[in-house]
Amino acid sequence: MEPMKRGTVLVTGGAGFIGANLVRLFLEHGYRVTVLDNLSTGRREYLKGLPIRFVKGDILDLELVSQVVPGHAGVVHLAAQTGVPGSLQDPRRDCEVNVLGTLNLLEACRHADVGRFVFASSNAPLGRQPPPATEDKAPLPISPYGASKLAGEGYCLAYHGSWGLGTVVLRFANVYGPYSAHKSSVVAKFFKDILAQGRITIDGDGQQTRDFIYVDDLCRAILLALESDVAGEVFQIATGVETSIQRLAQMVQEVAGRPVALRHGPARRGDIRKNYSAVEKARKVLGWEPRVGLEEGLQETWRWFSQEGAMIRRWSERE
Ligand SMILES: NC(=O)c1ccc[n+]([C@@H]2O[C@H](COP(=O)([O-])OP(=O)(O)OC[C@H]3O[C@@H](n4cnc5c(N)ncnc54)[C@H](O)[C@@H]3O)[C@@H](O)[C@H]2O)c1
Repeated sequence: MEPMKRGTVLVTGGAGFIGANLVRLFLEHGYRVTVLDNLSTGRREYLKGLPIRFVKGDILDLELVSQVVPGHAGVVHLAAQTGVPGSLQDPRRDCEVNVLGTLNLLEACRHADVGRFVFASSNAPLGRQPPPATEDKAPLPISPYGASKLAGEGYCLAYHGSWGLGTVVLRFANVYGPYSAHKSSVVAKFFKDILAQGRITIDGDGQQTRDFIYVDDLCRAILLALESDVAGEVFQIATGVETSIQRLAQMVQEVAGRPVALRHGPARRGDIRKNYSAVEKARKVLGWEPRVGLEEGLQETWRWFSQEGAMIRRWSERE
């Protein structure tokens, strides 16, 4: 498989949290960038002033997707219904966006001879497999989100197997960082609650663990995957470090440097107790490794949240 020559890259979901960080990295590396996003959760403001082509549209619009994809050397497919709760509320919508939306992109890439395709997956396809999450464990999803991401993974591998498309599946752990004010993941929620109420709430006893990866590290993995000649492969992208939510809450308090009340709420139904990944494959094959420790990453994230406090409050008032 040919590595990708630098040129124009299409980022679906580029106005979202990971997209806003990734687009900046691509621009720094000399790429021309197109973003396709329907702004259902992402924010146009995140991309303000950047020299990109922005197409407002839906990945379920096959005609639009077929028009936008040609001319790009590679595609990073981030646009998705992005979480378990949304998939429980509306499993059909989750399936349409995550399965048919992905199929639309893959079809357009196949017809337009796009060389490289990176798919944003998660640990949700592994479902009830005990940690650490690895590439060789059989997927056993327990949520519709896990099932739809698994189907997306399957189609990516199939398009490599059947037509030689240079697809790579990356399974992201819990990502945190700047441009995440619209997210309800734990780090973003803690920082938003500190700004709005000066207190944070831990679900249950806080002994549940997660693998937190800073968004810059994740975006570097996406760039490496896109530029590599590896195809038809799955990689866990994480730190391999397990952190409890209780510990995270302490670190967040320290980083914020102001008094924060801490309380415990009820445990979330179906919350997984332990979750972390093994990252040896990404290390060995992509030559990637995480560089940013949790404390440093939280400091960067808090800097962004506190600078953007006024904008975040404006959004919350509108919602
Ligand atoms: N953030 C995490 O911790 C995490 C973990 C694992 C996997 N992922 C995956 O990474 C990707 C990006 O996640 P994120 O955290 O940046 O989420 P996000 O919600 O911030 O970004 C998703 C973007 O996709 C856009 N979008 C949604 N549906 C669309 C559609 N039908 N057509 C066009 N655009 C659409 C949204 O407007 C948004 O800008 C997703 O595929 C998600 O499942 C994220």
